[in-house]
Amino acid sequence: MSSILITGGSGFIGRHFCTQAQQLGFQLCVLTRNPEAAAVRLPASVRLIQRLSELEADYAPEVIVNLAGEPLAAGRWTQRRKQRFYDSRINLTDRLYDFCVARGHKPAVVISGSAIGYYGPGDQPVDEHSTAVDGFSHQLCKTWEQSAKRFETLGTRVCYLRTGIVLGEEGALARMLPPFKLALGGPIGSGKQGMSWIHINDMVGAILHCINNPQIGGPVNATAPHPVSNAEFSTCLGVALNRPARLPMPALMVKLLFGEMGEELLLQGQYVLPNKLLVSDFQFQYPDLEQALQQVVAG
Ligand SMILES: NC(=O)c1ccc[n+]([C@@H]2O[C@H](COP(=O)([O-])OP(=O)(O)OC[C@H]3O[C@@H](n4cnc5c(N)ncnc54)[C@H](OP(=O)(O)O)[C@@H]3O)[C@@H](O)[C@H]2O)c1
Repeated sequence: MSSILITGGSGFIGRHFCTQAQQLGFQLCVLTRNPEAAAVRLPASVRLIQRLSELEADYAPEVIVNLAGEPLAAGRWTQRRKQRFYDSRINLTDRLYDFCVARGHKPAVVISGSAIGYYGPGDQPVDEHSTAVDGFSHQLCKTWEQSAKRFETLGTRVCYLRTGIVLGEEGALARMLPPFKLALGGPIGSGKQGMSWIHINDMVGAILHCINNPQIGGPVNATAPHPVSNAEFSTCLGVALNRPARLPMPALMVKLLFGEMGEELLLQGQYVLPNKLLVSDFQFQYPDLEQALQQVVAG
């Protein structure tokens, strides 16, 4: 397979994916709202388009990697922002599907985003077969997955990446680092909530693994095999930074500052196991949190 159409290619995960995929010889095309900004972040060989209608009639990517989405953790969840979370993910996925149908094109595989928020909160380990607890994150992920599932009617293989907290120089860790560097970090709320994480290199590896392994389909948990509690995560991050990490953030403060977003993304959590990746012999570069954090912090 040689040609990949990517949405969200300019983002944290997308940028790392594009860099790796172009080194492997794939031809890449990124759909972006802002080609000038995307060009600064992506290898020069990546084609940038603003609209699907710019694509030639015979353009037929074998793979679609669909990652675009308004960031969830950037602030409080107002009704307006919630609508943008849906529109940026589901409407775009629907447009991709309509585009393929209109062109009579059947991609071999679609790798589409989702998140571990699919499962809702829980203190017991969950894998791809587990049932979910309802809530805003669950509904958003479920609807996004259903939208991508429509590609199956074309005979396309579809994987939904139920992605954990991706550790790298951007994303959640970048937001945590400033207080932890000042020794102002610590557990959030009870500290007992699960944190299912994955190193950015393994995230990119997991996407490529799903592309290259035709037996994989449906939901795929993109998380490391050893999820930890929030308290353990704080301690590990403190050790990686050589700073104490004992200042707890009370649940009440999280609720006051961040509202529903704080409750679902910070105070609640889940212990997610990457069953499908492990069964299909995916080799994690960073299975353990200590090494993953040491690498990112040193990086
Ligand atoms: N990073 C994580 O820890 C994590 C965890 C779970 C799930 N995910 C999901 O995985 C996907 C990629 O994550 P990421 O961390 O790479 O995200 P990111 O850095 O925020 O990038 C997302 C990309 O989506 C596009 N986008 C943002 N807002 C949009 C909007 N309103 N309409 C259309 N496009 C929009 C942007 O591309 P342009 O500006 O070029 O259009 C942006 O580069 C996201 O959908 C995210 O929800 C990420």
